[in-house]
Amino acid sequence: MFDLSLEVLRVVEDAAIASARTMGMGDPGASDHAAVESMRRSLDTIPIDGTIVIGEGERDQAPMLYIGERVGAAPEPGDGERMKVDIAVDPLEGTNLCCTGGAGAITVLAAAESGGLLHAPDCYMEKIIVGPAAKGAVDLDAPVRQNLKSIARRLQRGVDDLVVVVLDRPRHQQLIADIRGAGARIRLISDGDLSAGIAAAVAGTGVHAVMGSGGAPEGVLTAAALRCLNGEILGRLVVKDDEQKERMQAMGIRDPNRIYATQDLAPGKTLVFAACGVTDGNLLRGARFTGDGAHTQSVVMNSTPSRVRFIETTHLENRPDVKVRFR
Ligand code: FBP
Repeated sequence: MFDLSLEVLRVVEDAAIASARTMGMGDPGASDHAAVESMRRSLDTIPIDGTIVIGEGERDQAPMLYIGERVGAAPEPGDGERMKVDIAVDPLEGTNLCCTGGAGAITVLAAAESGGLLHAPDCYMEKIIVGPAAKGAVDLDAPVRQNLKSIARRLQRGVDDLVVVVLDRPRHQQLIADIRGAGARIRLISDGDLSAGIAAAVAGTGVHAVMGSGGAPEGVLTAAALRCLNGEILGRLVVKDDEQKERMQAMGIRDPNRIYATQDLAPGKTLVFAACGVTDGNLLRGARFTGDGAHTQSVVMNSTPSRVRFIETTHLENRPDVKVRFR
């Protein structure tokens, strides 16, 4: 029996190595393409009956890893029935970070049994994300000041000790003013609310909450990680226009104002989440190349049994004289 966690680890590692090779080239298309192509290739070596439920978009916009695409190794004669797996990917989270060499680009994949991940449309989602200590203490409709007070109380510190991560966007002007008004500290990021969301649920990262709107697909992937980390995300889809509303209805979303909790976004019983660093970040170191091979740092999480593994891998060149370094 193969271990899906190790397989998805390999998928995110290979995609990180491929996209890290494009770091700083200033070509977002090339960075994204490198990650997508690598993920597609690796997924097709895993003996699963996989379906992409969150990917690069619809089939007509995305040649690879489009929603509904089937992935997995072709069955060999005599193989039993393949495990059905729903897969959500963000092959390169923080494309702009990678192509400018900025901090925090990662490759991401989550997997679950069929129906275990919400099929979220590609729109924005209002989000509030906290770690285990502040679980149950926040409310998406509460004033920012009140949420910050509740988080601070749970973390046994003052509001002025908190660090809230917010995407640096004009749409967050009021939110940023409210956080400042409440007295908390802010880390504005240019991209990457998914890795910030994971960091909020890992003690010692210096991130206590993430607030604001970002991608809904990233929200589902964050939820998969938070299920394993015992954190919490509350999210509400942001409907831009009638076209988006129709798209949501077609995807079976009846109430666009619904507030989704972590379990609604990632209801799977057997969730697997994996992310690998592309550029150096808060949580994961980026891929490094030494001439003897590549070094990657990843996190792989399972919901059942609950396991969180930080993994350093040396990917050696196929040469007789290669050296392995200890750190
Ligand atoms: P990609 O690099 O995966 O496209 O997304 C980066 C990102 O910053 C996400 O982390 C975030 O959820 C989303 O984009 C925010 O969207 P926008 O840039 O439109 O505000």
